[in-house]
Amino acid sequence: MEDKIKELQELNRQAELGGGPARIEKQHEKGKLTARERIDKLLDKGTFVELDKFVVHRCNYFGMEKNKILGDGVVTGYGKINGRTVFVFSQDFTVFGGSLSEMFAKKICKIMDLAMEVGAPVIGLNDSGGARIQEGVLSLAGYADIFLRNTLASGVIPQISAIMGPCAGGAVYSPALTDFIFMVKETSYMFITGPEVVKTVTNEVVTKEELGGAMTHNTKSGVAHFAAENDEECLLRIRELLSYIPSNNMEDPPVVPCKDDPNRIEKSLNDVVPTDPNKPYDMHDIIKLVVDDGNFFEIHEHYAKNLIVGFARLNGKTVGIVANQPAVLAGALDIDSSIKGARFVRFCDAFNIPLLTFVDVPGFMPGTAQEYGGIIKHGAKLLYAYCEATVPKVTVITRKAYGGAYDVLSSKHVRGDINFAYPTAEIAVMGPDGAVQILFAKEVAKADDPDAMKKRLVEEYRKTFANPYRAAELGFIDEVIVPEVTRPKLIQAFELLANKRQSNPPKKHGNIPL
Ligand code: COA
Repeated sequence: MEDKIKELQELNRQAELGGGPARIEKQHEKGKLTARERIDKLLDKGTFVELDKFVVHRCNYFGMEKNKILGDGVVTGYGKINGRTVFVFSQDFTVFGGSLSEMFAKKICKIMDLAMEVGAPVIGLNDSGGARIQEGVLSLAGYADIFLRNTLASGVIPQISAIMGPCAGGAVYSPALTDFIFMVKETSYMFITGPEVVKTVTNEVVTKEELGGAMTHNTKSGVAHFAAENDEECLLRIRELLSYIPSNNMEDPPVVPCKDDPNRIEKSLNDVVPTDPNKPYDMHDIIKLVVDDGNFFEIHEHYAKNLIVGFARLNGKTVGIVANQPAVLAGALDIDSSIKGARFVRFCDAFNIPLLTFVDVPGFMPGTAQEYGGIIKHGAKLLYAYCEATVPKVTVITRKAYGGAYDVLSSKHVRGDINFAYPTAEIAVMGPDGAVQILFAKEVAKADDPDAMKKRLVEEYRKTFANPYRAAELGFIDEVIVPEVTRPKLIQAFELLANKRQSNPPKKHGNIPL
């Protein structure tokens, strides 16, 4: 027996060495942790249970039959984050460049299937040279097996990807199908084709970092949701993200004890929204003053900053926040922010996370760039997402709610449950200047003193429409509130809605404008 145990111990030791000390050192030199070190940092101490540690590839081409490494380049298994089960795969760049083989894919598929059976999130740590070239179509088949599972698991269990090294070609599509993508600055990149191919095909000269680095995908493409300074920070932020979301679509999000007074009156909120409608302010100030302990976990922080999305807690319970940002593009909705918002709203709705919307929106962004880019179909995504969402929806209009954007942003008409407005709210078809220009252009032109007349008409319009009271008269606003009571009012509203049940007509699936 002793010999048998020694043999097992030796095999375990070999598997844990991955590609060997020299390659591990190279990995560290690049500022990256190894696949196993990453799992250690991600999970609660001592909770990792590894599966398929002794799996090897079955390839006999290019001398591969003589080159088998236990585990075959990916470490898979399950463990706990803050006491809750998660599944994880961690690609090991020290073994065949972390490239994906038939058996490598089978290991990932096994944990994805288990995760679906038990209803737990899957976290993928990506660091790979892509399809294992020696395995040809078997490796491509492996990717497809993963893509299919990603798609079927979407909306059932949360799927989180971290890009912690290369991720190129077909390999990008598994992360792209998941709910959230983290990238590590300087050491990770994602692209369909690398700089060499780009140069050959389009003549563009671009570096890896410019083409697909963390900040490129966090600011320009919106492919990634988070940019971390290093591996450690990335893994810690994944843990934090998970604390806000349920393990599957049949559960509610975790509730944490709350020390922040649910009845807290926040006088300073009365001074955040300027009475001058053209003055910008930072919507983060309102969010932070309202939520538990001022903690706001922002998603897509660097992308489409005219809309803010993220998680926070109210009296210990998760809410998904969507908020216009008047400090950027006056908070107007454009293509990027519509897509950003729509995806977030749909994630929240799929995973039973109530939605809180702060509105200060002058409308959709005008211009040829937006029209040619398809603002109509992209704006419709956000509208569709709000219309189909059946989770509790609470809205606060802080200032402008103009035009179609008023409808879109969790208005009563798209099944907003409780709709508040501040006294500074202006709910109208458009702003006073635009309205007067359209309605009275001829009269103003003919007037003895056009400026004086325009001023008078703008003032009249403002008095009539640029306030919350017309909407309140019609019941489209449930209550006009003094900003200082926002927190207790919101907590009360979400408490009321805790048992909300609403469903949509049965169908195979809807046809969201894409
Ligand atoms: N298939 C098989 N082996 C691969 C591989 C792949 N797709 N990608 C990398 N490797 C191997 C390398 O042969 C090398 O093996 P060795 O150490 O035994 O020589 C090892 O992984 C490390 O790769 P290396 O190229 O030395 O690392 P690097 O950090 O300099 O470069 C990449 C990393 C990812 C940029 C580079 O390996 C690469 O371009 N790979 C191919 C990417 C690709 O086109 N994949 C197919 C698209 S789906």
